[in-house]
Amino acid sequence: MHFSLPKEYREAETTDLQQRIIAAKKKLGSKLCILTHHYQRMEVVAYGDHVGDSYGLSKVASEQKDVEVIVFCGVLFMAEAADILTDEKKMVFLPNPLAGCPMADMAEMADVMEAWKSLEQFGGDETFMPISYMNTAAGLKAFTGRHGGLICTSSNAAAAMGWALERREKLFFFPDQHLGCNTAHRFGIKPEEMAVWDFSRESGGLAPEDIERAKIILWKGHCHVHTTFKPEHVEQARKDYPGVQVVVHPECPREVVELADANGSTSFIVEYCEEQPAGSTIAIGTEINLINRMAHQFPEKKIIELSGQTCPVCANMYRTTLNDLAYTLENYADLKPISVSEPDRGEALLALQKMLEIC
Ligand code: 13P
Ligand code: SF4
Repeated sequence: MHFSLPKEYREAETTDLQQRIIAAKKKLGSKLCILTHHYQRMEVVAYGDHVGDSYGLSKVASEQKDVEVIVFCGVLFMAEAADILTDEKKMVFLPNPLAGCPMADMAEMADVMEAWKSLEQFGGDETFMPISYMNTAAGLKAFTGRHGGLICTSSNAAAAMGWALERREKLFFFPDQHLGCNTAHRFGIKPEEMAVWDFSRESGGLAPEDIERAKIILWKGHCHVHTTFKPEHVEQARKDYPGVQVVVHPECPREVVELADANGSTSFIVEYCEEQPAGSTIAIGTEINLINRMAHQFPEKKIIELSGQTCPVCANMYRTTLNDLAYTLENYADLKPISVSEPDRGEALLALQKMLEIC
């Protein structure tokens, strides 16, 4: 896909863009709601009506009543979820249409269907409960809803898994193997009861006995931002900063989560930073824009990026600029909103509502 802003917006000065955003917000008043994910640039977050994690923002979207225009400064799967959770009178816009999620793209519809076809030979939805991470395309959320499953985010994956395990013997979790693995550990599921479905290999690279033994099938997806964190980064941080508190996102590999003091969603990480006393040192394993914002927000604490060197940026989150926001706010009437059509919409809604009910 090609996307380029008109020259007027591309070349505008920051102060001009800021004034235009403020004026557009004033003009739209209560008709407008700007949602900003924690990984957005600091200057974009400054104009959000709400800042939050993927769960919190989907909940805020679902609670809007009189709002007509939702501008979601995040990535595509978040805007799609907001569209599904709101009535058809509300228009949802993604200011930069190129903002996707490479992890969500690792779960291709056709590949997941092929995996499910194999799992049907082992009981299908009699045995397996599908749990789709929020980071998936709407079509996969619909698949999950159709088979009685539910959506989870990093802030409610344990609640979702608990719900699922009470209802079916086994879980089919996609696309993030690390969130799935880290959460399954909390339920006492052993490594040998976890099987990773490698979508690039015949039958997921699994033998029938692997599937029979497994309590959970984990899709072999990952986030390239969070998998840059390694156990040696935690060890180094502890050497360099005695008494450091290490907090990481559960999309990080198991070995990193095990060594950390705490792990949780982006909102959890924000709360964790808030709770630490002045003078403390906190090393964070997540996206750099959130870390920089925390360091800015809490100057009385030393807040550092855990690896100290890799600059873990989510380039997709970073795509959204003030230029995109100003353009969207001033031209939304001529732009195409994010719109998930039936039957995906209704089926995905079932799975999303289940998440909102239990969490
Ligand atoms: P949160 O659910 O913590 O907001 O995370 C979303 C995400 O994409 C993390 O990489
Ligand atoms: Fe996707 Fe990772 Fe970016 Fe989150 S940080 S949106 S999982 S690529």
